[in-house]
Amino acid sequence: MNPNTVTHGRAGTSAIDAKGLVKRFKTGRTFIEVLKGVDFDARHGEMTMVMGPSGSGKSTLVAALSGLLKPDEGRVDALDVDDLWDHSAGRIDKFRLDNCGFIFQGFNLFPAMNATQQVMTVLKYQGVPKDEARRRAVAALEEVGLGARLNQRPDSLSGGEKQRIAIARALAKDPALLFADEPTSALDGENGQVVIRLLRRAATEHGAAVICVTHDPRLEAWADRVIHIEDGRILDDQRRTPDPNATLGSH
Ligand SMILES: Nc1ncnc2c1ncn2[C@@H]1O[C@H](COP(=O)(O)OP(=O)(O)O)[C@@H](O)[C@H]1O
Ligand SMILES: [Mg+2]
Repeated sequence: MNPNTVTHGRAGTSAIDAKGLVKRFKTGRTFIEVLKGVDFDARHGEMTMVMGPSGSGKSTLVAALSGLLKPDEGRVDALDVDDLWDHSAGRIDKFRLDNCGFIFQGFNLFPAMNATQQVMTVLKYQGVPKDEARRRAVAALEEVGLGARLNQRPDSLSGGEKQRIAIARALAKDPALLFADEPTSALDGENGQVVIRLLRRAATEHGAAVICVTHDPRLEAWADRVIHIEDGRILDDQRRTPDPNATLGSH
């Protein structure tokens, strides 16, 4: 387990609470409404899965929740910040830097950096001194099983290994909010399983509120809660008991 671990809010307490989110995009001369009044909340220590078909508004929802894309209506209360979107761009950026980790389908790694440098970079942005950043980067990479790949660049790593670097990068700053957008969809079953288990651990062991967006119903097994979204609306919201030993099988 990562020695840098701090525990966030008490497991089960609210980490993020959004009400009435509406987002419209202009296409040509018309607007399409991609979020149609979405209420959403997620708790510390839990994996909340947002499931829905392609185009249903999942990525837009993550962007609105995490301070990346301003909704047209509604509000987001996150951690100790009331109405996140009512703050200045600088304050919102700082909120994201301090509290949010992101994992995307496409890994988003820097081609010229080795694994350790990928992770150190975000810590240095946060003002962590170099030696400590290196120590924490190595610890995070060891936690995801990449202790033997510290000096390798993305082009010499498999897809599963690249996604584990992205997870180490997100976990190294021990974010209270961890957003994963289709984190397994570029991976085979075996690597997808490694990734979803690491996200599960981020919730259980680090106390993060993990918000995982996917269109793969097999990931439900690891979730505390499954929210279905379709055409910009929440269809249902169910609590369940996660099975940390579930298997994904191969594609
Ligand atoms: N910047 C944008 N401009 C116009 N339309 C967009 C933009 N971003 C997303 N959309 C549209 O909004 C809808 C929902 O997109 P998205 O949130 O990415 O869905 P999902 O992640 O569930 O696949 C899609 O129809 C998409 O084409
Ligand atoms: Mg998406």
